[in-house]
Amino acid sequence: MTQEILLTGRVLSFDRTPFETTPETSARLDEALVIRDGRIAAVGETAALAAAHPNASRHDHGQHVIVAGFIDPHVHFPQTAMIASWGKRLIDWLNSYTFPEEMRFANPAYAAEIAARYLDLTTAAGTTTMCSFCTIHPASVEAFFTEAKARGQRVVAGKTCMDRNAPEGLRDTAQSSYDDSKALLEKWHGEGRISYAITPRFSPTSTAEQLEAMGALWAEHPECLMQTHLSEQTDEIAWVKQLFPDARDYLDTYESFGLLGANGLYGHAIHLEPREKDRLREVGAALVHCPTSNTFIGSGLFDMTGLMAEGHRIGLATDTGGGSSFSMLRTMAAAYEIGQLRNNPLHPAQLLWLATVGSARALRMEDRIGNIAPGMEADLVVLNLASTPAIAQREAEAEELWEAIFPTIMMGDDRAVAEVWIGGQRVKS
Ligand code: GUN
Ligand code: ZN
Repeated sequence: MTQEILLTGRVLSFDRTPFETTPETSARLDEALVIRDGRIAAVGETAALAAAHPNASRHDHGQHVIVAGFIDPHVHFPQTAMIASWGKRLIDWLNSYTFPEEMRFANPAYAAEIAARYLDLTTAAGTTTMCSFCTIHPASVEAFFTEAKARGQRVVAGKTCMDRNAPEGLRDTAQSSYDDSKALLEKWHGEGRISYAITPRFSPTSTAEQLEAMGALWAEHPECLMQTHLSEQTDEIAWVKQLFPDARDYLDTYESFGLLGANGLYGHAIHLEPREKDRLREVGAALVHCPTSNTFIGSGLFDMTGLMAEGHRIGLATDTGGGSSFSMLRTMAAAYEIGQLRNNPLHPAQLLWLATVGSARALRMEDRIGNIAPGMEADLVVLNLASTPAIAQREAEAEELWEAIFPTIMMGDDRAVAEVWIGGQRVKS
């Protein structure tokens, strides 16, 4: 018989969307859950579950809160070693810091080292799934998937494609990007918990021929996600207008090449025109909010409340290393702060939902990850709500659960992440 595991604590899951109901009533609290064969087998009261699963090995977490593992739907794992690089806005930041670092991934050994380092750092922070850009080098994708597979992690990634406006050594071609992406997709998509995402970096670094090739590949594999960047900074948008004078707007540079669809993930999406919002919503595309990146690179204030009210599908992400953190706790805090600057403070339930269910929805994986319910994959985080003296003294004053969680969202780091479980295995304790 397979070994069952019984976890007790304050098991927090969502049965409603906190943007569509009073946030406080969107979640439910249980006492325990059972893991079997990498999945959640049962959720409920401790006594009943212990009686029904007498041979389960038991882990008691007292007042710790057990939530679904965090999901980060927009990251660049190759930017791990250049996170927190000073003083530039998007285009200069890419040229000064990002592209030189990404060149180093021509060396497969370096790619493997950074993939392992990145997954160590994010596991410590409680992130169990991410969707990553790699570099133009197929070996960077191999390194990331090989490391994630060894760890049993559900991840999405793709070869970043760019054939212009990037330095020598960091450009592919329309044909090679199609061929390399296709080969990687056919090798890795659906291999264990791994998914391939077709990945044109953004319109300024692709010719029309490359965007067309990416659109053709997506048409052949509509089951795959497609990830890119959209309307992050105003200078970038002006540049896109110059490069694509016939396009109606930035989104049209994707749409006209078959790169707008329900399985599309559009990172940043800050400065959108009304037509762009309408089309993104009509097709059911996902927008990905990257708040620490948007303040760090000086991009602008994403309109979470307005876009949610219009019915967009939205995930929350770090955008490591444009984002200044590997932590989804820090990212939730930044989303709260941006909400405040727009006069729309997000409720802690909305923040936690975005980092779990919302981001799973963005990845079209909400039936497998991002929540705690029977049948879901057992990717879990155990949160200590009193992980530092500063947080503990505030938590001690709290009169209800969300007030107790909010100081950890605002001030917590990897010390708040007491345990992490991936696919039913404990990977941090
Ligand atoms: N736009 C195109 N590439 C990138 C990147 O690597 N990071 C961010 N933040 N924006 C981009
Ligand atoms: Zn990005």
